[in-house]
Amino acid sequence: MVAVVREQTNASTPALPPERTPRHVAIIMDGNGRWAKQRGLPRTEGHRNGVENLRRILQAAVECGVEILTIYAFSTENWNRPKYEVEMLMRLLELFLERELDELHKNGVQIRHIGELDGVPTRLQKRIVKGLELTKDNSRLILNVAFNYGGRDEIVRAVRRIVEEGIPAEDITEDLINHYLYTCGLPDPDLIIRTSGELRVSNFLIWQGSYSEYYTTPTYWPDFDETEFRKALAEYAHRKRRFGQIDEQVEDPDE
Ligand code: IPE
Ligand code: IPE
Ligand code: MG
Repeated sequence: MVAVVREQTNASTPALPPERTPRHVAIIMDGNGRWAKQRGLPRTEGHRNGVENLRRILQAAVECGVEILTIYAFSTENWNRPKYEVEMLMRLLELFLERELDELHKNGVQIRHIGELDGVPTRLQKRIVKGLELTKDNSRLILNVAFNYGGRDEIVRAVRRIVEEGIPAEDITEDLINHYLYTCGLPDPDLIIRTSGELRVSNFLIWQGSYSEYYTTPTYWPDFDETEFRKALAEYAHRKRRFGQIDEQVEDPDE
């Protein structure tokens, strides 16, 4: 990967103050297929360009001071796509890890995975495990990859484990449930971006996103560049997060 981590800001866009920068940004990388269709290309070309775009956004995230970037790469529902497309998506992740892992590691990126490895081709499973193991002590940016991930599936698995471990009903709290989710130990996403203009969550971080700020843009994922990323962060900086309180109780970012 080309210099993922250049700790500088784009001269034309001043950095946001740290207290207005989202610590954890999650992205629903949507619109690869339509991006390709618009150009008369096969959908797989859209996915290829989508993976390329990930490098740019990783760099932008580091430059902006984001600590955790969660990306939705493959949902539990995406298995229902045509077989060749599913295979292509698996191959692309494998290729990404093969090509970029060393560079990501050198640049201090810690890779994490949320979702189930069961059902994923064995070769890819091995690559993922290798990536997690190699980068586990890095701390510059956490790249949290949601692959074979579904929010409902995550909750079902958490409940099963809680029951299996015989945890008494009175001990079940929000913190306890958090502990059993894939995202255990990570703060909830502050900002969830969805590209391609869709206004739905598609089973992404349904528990963790309960108080996230949502941002959507009509831009398809392969075209969602650094400028767009900064625009989303700039909009977030003006959002007034109330967490159920009233206006007067919370600080106004614009005052
Ligand atoms: C997002 O792009 C990539 C994945 C879901 C893996 P899509 O493939 O969903 O593209 P559209 O939404 O069909 O345009
Ligand atoms: C969400 O996009 C999943 C990923 C980006 C991996 P989809 O394209 O699968 O979502 P729907 O089907 O339009 O809701
Ligand atoms: Mg889509």
